[in-house]
Amino acid sequence: KHMSIIGVPMDLGQNRRGVDMGPSAIRYAGVVERLENLGYHMNDLGDVPVSRPDGKNEIQDGKLRNLKQVAESNQKLAELVDKEIVENHFPLILGGDHSIAIGSLAGAAKHFQNLGVIWYDAHGDLNSGDTSPSGNIHGMPLAVSIGIGHDKLTTILDYAPKVKPENIVIIGARSLDPGEKELIQEKGINVYSMHEIDRMGMSQVVTEAINYLRERTDGVHLSLDLDGLDPEEAPGVGTPVLGGLSYRESHLAMEMLAEADMITSAEFVEVNPILDDKNKTASQAVGLIGSLFGEKLK
Ligand code: ARG
Ligand code: MN
Ligand code: MN
Ligand code: MN
Repeated sequence: KHMSIIGVPMDLGQNRRGVDMGPSAIRYAGVVERLENLGYHMNDLGDVPVSRPDGKNEIQDGKLRNLKQVAESNQKLAELVDKEIVENHFPLILGGDHSIAIGSLAGAAKHFQNLGVIWYDAHGDLNSGDTSPSGNIHGMPLAVSIGIGHDKLTTILDYAPKVKPENIVIIGARSLDPGEKELIQEKGINVYSMHEIDRMGMSQVVTEAINYLRERTDGVHLSLDLDGLDPEEAPGVGTPVLGGLSYRESHLAMEMLAEADMITSAEFVEVNPILDDKNKTASQAVGLIGSLFGEKLK
């Protein structure tokens, strides 16, 4: 099996510098070697270019910070993901802030009638310019993928929406803004918040998610925001939220997804080495990648 690594050194979707070094940190933590050991044929395609904003982290188009630059990089990322899938290479995307899911999903969803999405995150990332408390585009990519948000973002690769709301499963949510809660209600998006995870256990949550997605989707993109984990175990993230998923729960989830053999593209985002403790969060990402790609099975 061939896999392509695509780095996206994007930090313009939020306010804290340093997350642009996420791809390097994850590479440095040994992602390529880890996957080669599992028998994958690895090709590291390097990084998608991200241009600098003219001003300092400027608000453009009313409420969206760095809209132009974020849209441009996502366009390039989408083209690359599309191309890799055409060549039958599994795209493994390394962030960068979560705004890069816009491009990943644009490139991946082109190839599926019903792409499923597992959104492993403390947040819903379901804001738009109207509901966002921050203007940060990393809080918007999931809304964009269902066609809600600025045109420059929703129409990347000239089609919209990318994903149907009923094909989304959010796992680990514990910080949702009022507008996001409304959208979840309105669209009937499946959310396993920390409440459900505590009550049901991760095993049952992932079993349900897998069964649900298996019935209705023809491919599944995993979008894993490291802030889904507890900040105790993954401190190198820009928007940490207490009470998160443990190392053990997260590995169990990845191992179950490996067994289910249904993930068709994946991204690991929001690793910020400047806020980290000795590259611990990037190492966590690499460990989770190992589990997702079958470390336990081989
Ligand atoms: N909901 C907040 C916002 O819209 C935080 C988003 C955090 N997103 C992330 N990908 N870490 O600004
Ligand atoms: Mn090849
Ligand atoms: Mn998050
Ligand atoms: Mn996120």
